[in-house]
Amino acid sequence: MQTIDEHSEALVVGAGGAIGAALTERLLDTTPVARVWAATRHPDSGRVAGLRARHGERVQAVAVDLTNPDSIAALAEQVGAATPRLHLLINAFGILHDRDAGIWPEKRVEDITAAGLEANLRINTMAPMLIARHCLPLLNHRDRAVFASLSARVGSISDNRLGGWYAYRASKAAQNMFTRGLAIECARRARRVICLALHPGTTDSGLSEPFQAHVPDGKLFTPAFVAECLLKRIDAAGIDDSGQFLAWDGAPIPW
Ligand SMILES: NC(=O)c1ccc[n+]([C@@H]2O[C@H](COP(=O)([O-])OP(=O)(O)OC[C@H]3O[C@@H](n4cnc5c(N)ncnc54)[C@H](OP(=O)(O)O)[C@@H]3O)[C@@H](O)[C@H]2O)c1
Repeated sequence: MQTIDEHSEALVVGAGGAIGAALTERLLDTTPVARVWAATRHPDSGRVAGLRARHGERVQAVAVDLTNPDSIAALAEQVGAATPRLHLLINAFGILHDRDAGIWPEKRVEDITAAGLEANLRINTMAPMLIARHCLPLLNHRDRAVFASLSARVGSISDNRLGGWYAYRASKAAQNMFTRGLAIECARRARRVICLALHPGTTDSGLSEPFQAHVPDGKLFTPAFVAECLLKRIDAAGIDDSGQFLAWDGAPIPW
């Protein structure tokens, strides 16, 4: 992998999610990465605890609450106090629904709620922006580095043929605009940082679980398969690819 050697440090935010954990596991299993910082709401339980049990000190769990800007700043401080450089940062978190909070993707405009909008925008849009704001100094060094955010095809404006899912679609479209803008700024002042928006494809996870009945046979990917595909995209990306919106198979997605 171009990005990763035995001196490399990676940060996966949302490492307890299905895709985040699979990305973390694959980095640890198939690359010589020195350490993966696994940022999660639950550092001592769930998938991140399992990763720590299997991989020891190559996994550094860090607690983060992505709805709290101070917590995001503290995450960058904690990582930065231990390492001056990150070679890969993947925003692997996201929200589409939260039954406990009464948040559900909207079918009709009347279904829009302030709580749903706020949760989607806070997590899917604001958190990647604040993470970049605090972590860019760790990515800006003499080596190639990648800042990748998991987006979603439904965040494409030109690809929107079904409507609905207003808050999620809008939050991912705004995330995409940020990734594009960050790529332009990095080309000026952080010239080895490659910024990517990546669509994982429909993947078996808590996020997709309520909608899997409609997925055609063979189109529901395992998190392990998706992690392999996404890390290939990250590996292959050059500076000229910065600011692109790519699917799991490398196909560009129209904005
Ligand atoms: N699954 C799909 O079919 C699909 C399709 C297109 C795009 N995506 C995108 O892929 C990304 C990963 O999704 P996934 O399928 O792996 O979903 P997932 O298993 O539900 O994981 C999402 C993770 O996001 C973090 N998160 C969610 N709500 C949070 C909150 N309130 N505060 C802090 N962290 C929160 C959590 O990480 P921790 O548990 O570590 O705290 C959670 O485990 C998302 O951006 C999603 O939009 C997924």
